[in-house]
Order: sequence, then C-alpha cells, then structure tokens
Amino acid sequence: MGIQPHKFKGVYTVKKGKRIAFVTKNLTPGKTVYGEETYREGNDEYREWSLTRSKLGAALAKNISQLGIYPGSKVLYLGASTGTTSSHVSDVVGEEGFVFALDFAPRTTRELVYLCEQRKNMTPILGDARRPEQYAQYVTLVDTVFQDIAQRDQAEIFIKNCNAFLKKGGFGILAVKARSVDVAKKPKQVFNEVRAYIEKNITIVDYRELDPFEKDHCIFICKKK
Ligand SMILES: C[S@@+](CC[C@H](N)C(=O)[O-])C[C@H]1O[C@@H](n2cnc3c(N)ncnc32)[C@H](O)[C@@H]1O
Repeated sequence: MGIQPHKFKGVYTVKKGKRIAFVTKNLTPGKTVYGEETYREGNDEYREWSLTRSKLGAALAKNISQLGIYPGSKVLYLGASTGTTSSHVSDVVGEEGFVFALDFAPRTTRELVYLCEQRKNMTPILGDARRPEQYAQYVTLVDTVFQDIAQRDQAEIFIKNCNAFLKKGGFGILAVKARSVDVAKKPKQVFNEVRAYIEKNITIVDYRELDPFEKDHCIFICKKK
C-alpha cells in the first residue's frame, strides 16, 4: 500500500499494522526531530506525526474537517517549544511556505534555533505571545496563526495575535488546555467559555476534543472574518 496522500495537502498516511499513521514528507531527509519513526518511498522520506505529543496530530486522528495549513502557507506558530509539531507544520507548508516559530522559554528556543538552522522555511523567535508589539518587526501578515500555549489567558492571547498578524480569510487554530485556564472547572465548561469569547472575534469552523490522545484538551479551527 505504501504512502498515500491524505485529504489535506501536505499530509500523508501509511498503514502501520492495524492502524493508519499520519506522516509528513521530511524537508530534511536523514534528520528526525523527536525520535519519530521514518518511512522511505522512492527518494522521499516521511516522518510519523505523533498523536500523543502533538495536538495537531491528535486533531488529525479526531478527523478534523479543515487543517488550516497548506503547502505554501505562512504560519505564525505560538508556543513552538522544541519544535515537535512546528517541524511537521514546516514539512506541510514546504519550501514555498514559512513558519515563524515563537516561544518565550530561552532553553527550548535554543533547541529551536538548531532546528531552524536545518529547516530553511522556519525562523525562531524568542518572545512573549502576550506582547505582539515585541515581535511585530520580525513577523509578516500570515495565512495561519497556530497557538499551543498553556496559559490562563490563552484565548485572549490568541485573539490578540489574530488581530495583529492574521490575513482576512486566514485560519486561526487554537489548542486549549482546560486545566491551565481553570483547574477547578470542568473542561467542558472551560471549552464553552473559550468558545463564547473567541466567537465574538473570529468564526469557528470546526472543534474537536482531543481525548484520548490529549486529556482535557480541545482544538478550535477558526477563520478570520
Ligand atoms: C505545550 S508546549 C508546546 C508544545 C508544542 N506546540 C508542540 O506541539 O511541539 C507550550 C509552550 O508554550 C510556551 N509558552 C507559554 N506561554 C507563552 C507565552 N506567553 N509566550 C510564548 N510562549 C509561551 C512554553 O514555553 C511551552 O514551550
């Protein structure tokens, strides 16, 4: 059967025993990012996308209807950490696309610097996502804002960045960790409150809870009006 194209351009699948794994075509063949498995087909190498270490990987497994990231997309990635998910985003957008990978933790951003030295379509930014004015000079208008940061005010941070950097008609993708917003509330209540807040500002086009891959997390796929 081999590697098959998925319904989302830039994403592929491969049969692995009884299940289907999601993979992306490695922009840097021979180099992996987090110990992920690789597959060869012809001259190409594909990297398996973890469902438990990446909320976007989990969202694929939960059959989201739109990915919001395409070959050629320019993406502002907030909360890039050491690059697990953003490296797959870099594979998907390919050489015509670009990833601005931001994190505020110096230690993880140092690792991101090494990753970005290998991946020519990615740049690291050390900055606080609460303060877009800090990094506005390094970021262009983008097709997609992706956010995965565990903060109490994550919904506000997301909208602030969509207002500052997202093109009209562009996609905003927000991964929410309920326990970071409020440990005392039921995750469902937190998700509903986040929904009520963000939909005042942006159109929600899909939503998935990410259990069992990521407990008490959900993801919103949005489009800027
Ligand atoms: C759950 S980890 C992200 C994992 C990553 N998205 C992945 O899938 O590979 C959350 C990251 O958000 C970063 N973060 C938290 N608050 C932030 C802020 N205000 N500005 C920038 N980064 C932040 C943390 O340093 C951490 O690396």
